[in-house]
Amino acid sequence: GTSTGSTADVADLLYEQFGDDIASEPIEIDTIQGSVAKTFEQYGALVVGTPTWNTGADSERSGTGWDEIYYGEMQDLNLVGKKVAVFGLGDQVSYAENYADASGELYDVFEGLGCQMIGHTSQDGYEHEASKAIKGDKFCGLLCDAVNQEELTEDRVVQWVAQLKEEGILDGSSSATPEVAAAPAPTAADEINVVKELEEQSRILDENIMTHSGLKNDSDSFTPHHNPVTGRTMWTSADGRTCYYTVDAPKVGTKLSP
Ligand SMILES: Cc1cc2nc3c(=O)[nH]c(=O)nc-3n(C[C@H](O)[C@H](O)[C@H](O)COP(=O)(O)O)c2cc1C
Repeated sequence: GTSTGSTADVADLLYEQFGDDIASEPIEIDTIQGSVAKTFEQYGALVVGTPTWNTGADSERSGTGWDEIYYGEMQDLNLVGKKVAVFGLGDQVSYAENYADASGELYDVFEGLGCQMIGHTSQDGYEHEASKAIKGDKFCGLLCDAVNQEELTEDRVVQWVAQLKEEGILDGSSSATPEVAAAPAPTAADEINVVKELEEQSRILDENIMTHSGLKNDSDSFTPHHNPVTGRTMWTSADGRTCYYTVDAPKVGTKLSP
């Protein structure tokens, strides 16, 4: 967003400073109204900027297209966890009580959407009295002043881009969906416990079936199936889950897998 071009100038400087690392040329917010979600959601991180015009108003302070979308279209965005850095332009002498206030509003809107806000800077070297862009004891992002400190802008941009890189702005795309923590791989001890647990459950199930079918868990409740060819007899339990074979005495017990 820009009215007289100074915010656009800083956006261009940021674009140059990022060089090949940046995915898009600066985008004027007015040009993407109606497709803000599609535009913002495709990038792993965002650097967003605004001037401050609407002095004294409680909200919609930028005087740009941002004001049209903050509390409408933007409220439907899914940007949770996305890294967002804010920059702003203002006049710290003429508007010392409201220096770059709109940057604070831009910050609040993205923060309210669950974005990971990065790029806070020190207030040292500015002459403002008050600003809604102050969060804690820092500015919410990079603040520039094309009216009173034009000569400092380039250095500020260079330093800020280095800071954003340190804060991981290029570290892959943050997912809008928080990652689900992966379960640790099962250990051998876990697997043994699972087998024991299954065996125990199987034993309990056998007991229940015996109890409810009125059968006793002894050889009387097994049914013989004689194979005259092999001479072996297969004895199956009433529930069909357990069997053993007899050839001659003694009988050989074999438990079927559950
Ligand atoms: C009518 C008017 C109101 C302004 N209000 C503020 C203000 O409240 N706070 C501030 O820091 N700057 C204020 N400014 C200064 C502008 O934010 C500053 O000139 C900025 O660089 C303009 O950015 P742009 O060229 O990208 O539109 C105001 C300027 C004008 C002319």
